[in-house]
Amino acid sequence: MPSHASVEGRSPMNFDRSKVDDRSASVDWSAYAVAYDLLSTHNPEYLALMHEFEDFLAAIKTPRLIYDIGGGTGNYTEIAARTCPGSEIRLVEPDAGMIGLARAKLAAYGNITYDTRAIEEIDGQGAADLVICVHALYAMPEHELRLRDLRRLLRPGGWLYLVDLGRYMNVADWRRYLFSNLKKERGLLGALQVFWQGREIAKQNKAILKAQQEGVYWTHTEAEIASAITSAGFEIIRQNSVYRGYSDLLVCKATP
Ligand SMILES: C[S@@+](CC[C@H](N)C(=O)[O-])C[C@H]1O[C@@H](n2cnc3c(N)ncnc32)[C@H](O)[C@@H]1O
Repeated sequence: MPSHASVEGRSPMNFDRSKVDDRSASVDWSAYAVAYDLLSTHNPEYLALMHEFEDFLAAIKTPRLIYDIGGGTGNYTEIAARTCPGSEIRLVEPDAGMIGLARAKLAAYGNITYDTRAIEEIDGQGAADLVICVHALYAMPEHELRLRDLRRLLRPGGWLYLVDLGRYMNVADWRRYLFSNLKKERGLLGALQVFWQGREIAKQNKAILKAQQEGVYWTHTEAEIASAITSAGFEIIRQNSVYRGYSDLLVCKATP
């Protein structure tokens, strides 16, 4: 596939678009996109997760084919494209605003392809050496089936690098945490400026909480996600609680 190719508009396989449309009403990822990157760069926990992923990539044999599922504005794709220049990275992101930002940000890389389908529509079979899925599974419909989709993309022995929001998004707690870090970094006025520019974040985080409370988005304990992953055909190599205890990080291998 040529670099920066798009595979938009392919026909879905066994895919009920109405389910995704219902769900997309809960969180407006496009409205989130610009503010997402703004606040991420000021969120030490988000940056720590990215460093942890880069350390993981440096420690494994270079993957040839990598998927970044629900890759958003492309921050994990960027790490993969930069540290594995000889690899092919497929960024899968159905939201136009998110993937639009990713394309603009990553235009200099020739080893990325962009796919605007939801994971439910991706027909790849057992070819990937690494699948990245960070803070996206909880927002997908029918998580057990989506975990099987992630498994289906991988060759036996391939890696799944999964981070997922499992606990209720406490908007006030995150606001306090981010504001206090920003104040240390930029002073009171600087912190207020960033908060104003990133005000969309609080709005979308409230929408995430509402979707979690209504059961539209998946919430889980550490044990529940471990059990779901094992049932989907993975061996868990490492699991830890991350993102101030809100999320789970699981490094897994696809079982034969
Ligand atoms: C919070 S963002 C995470 C972005 C990125 N992984 C990161 O950590 O910066 C979650 C993304 O999941 C995407 N998403 C939601 N449902 C999806 C699905 N069914 N298939 C693929 N991506 C999906 C959304 O469009 C959104 O951009």
